[in-house]
Amino acid sequence: MKHFISVHDVTNVNDMVQLAMHYKQHPFIDQHLGANKRIGLLFLNPSLRTRLSTQIAASNLGMEAIVFNIDKDGWALEFEEGAIMSGHTVEHIKDAAPILGQYFDILCIRAFPALQNKQDDYSEQVMKAFMQYAAVPIVSLESATLHPLQSLTDVLTIKEHWHKPTKPKVVLTWAPHIKALPQCVANSFSQWMTHWGEAEFVIAHPEDYALDATFTKSATITHHQDEALQNADFVYVKNWSTYHDYGKIYSNDPSWMLTEQKLQLTNQAKVMHCLPVRRNIELSDEILDSNASLVNTQAGNRVWAAQAVLSTILKTL
Ligand code: CP
Repeated sequence: MKHFISVHDVTNVNDMVQLAMHYKQHPFIDQHLGANKRIGLLFLNPSLRTRLSTQIAASNLGMEAIVFNIDKDGWALEFEEGAIMSGHTVEHIKDAAPILGQYFDILCIRAFPALQNKQDDYSEQVMKAFMQYAAVPIVSLESATLHPLQSLTDVLTIKEHWHKPTKPKVVLTWAPHIKALPQCVANSFSQWMTHWGEAEFVIAHPEDYALDATFTKSATITHHQDEALQNADFVYVKNWSTYHDYGKIYSNDPSWMLTEQKLQLTNQAKVMHCLPVRRNIELSDEILDSNASLVNTQAGNRVWAAQAVLSTILKTL
């Protein structure tokens, strides 16, 4: 694995999940792998789980990790080819990335979408520029369209909680939110679920909230949440803004918030969310504080997913 940007960088999802589970049992077994190696964690946006879990994963593998809030502490970066830099940007990515590539053996980047222009965001300009100019492996800590470390964690969490020979029914349901959020987590979860192929995967969202079809191939899609929840084994709750009329809030319908009553429709489903979550907007207290909630397990599993990805890259260096 050269980079980790999407599910397409993983040779076999189940093998990667197995490796993450192995690290959960034996966190320090590969401490030698990262000896004398340095990893840079570059954040253009805030983070709690991704930042800390990736640092811990790197430390478990014996690497030195340096976190850089590049949006606050670095120079404003320019990404446009041929830009005349007379505005607020100070340093071109063509100049910054090769230096970072000299300082670090692996570079991890978090770069959210601006949600202003679909073409700009969906071209993954920032992640691609780092891959082009840094000359070291790049790991996405959440990009403009995808959040692969979260999705690997989510597959791991589902596998840990499913012990039947049949496929689980996994429902991704849209939830209300007060802000326009990226489609990254929903895109990425859909991409991993459909690629993994070991679940019956259903997406429920209000009309006008269709995701980019690139990521939802083979998923069943409905606008009827109650119908989707019937006999579900796992319910993944997430808000996203509109994709087609890009980055808008068309609905804030509170009836889409998952409640204990709605959960009665399911097969005693476990409830997932990537966090952070707006309580009693996206998900009710009664669910988040119940035994049905897997959100803390998911967040804990972020360490093992990151460790599996980093160790796989380290073995190629
Ligand atoms: N789920 C997730 O990526 O959390 P953070 O934004 O806190 O890193």
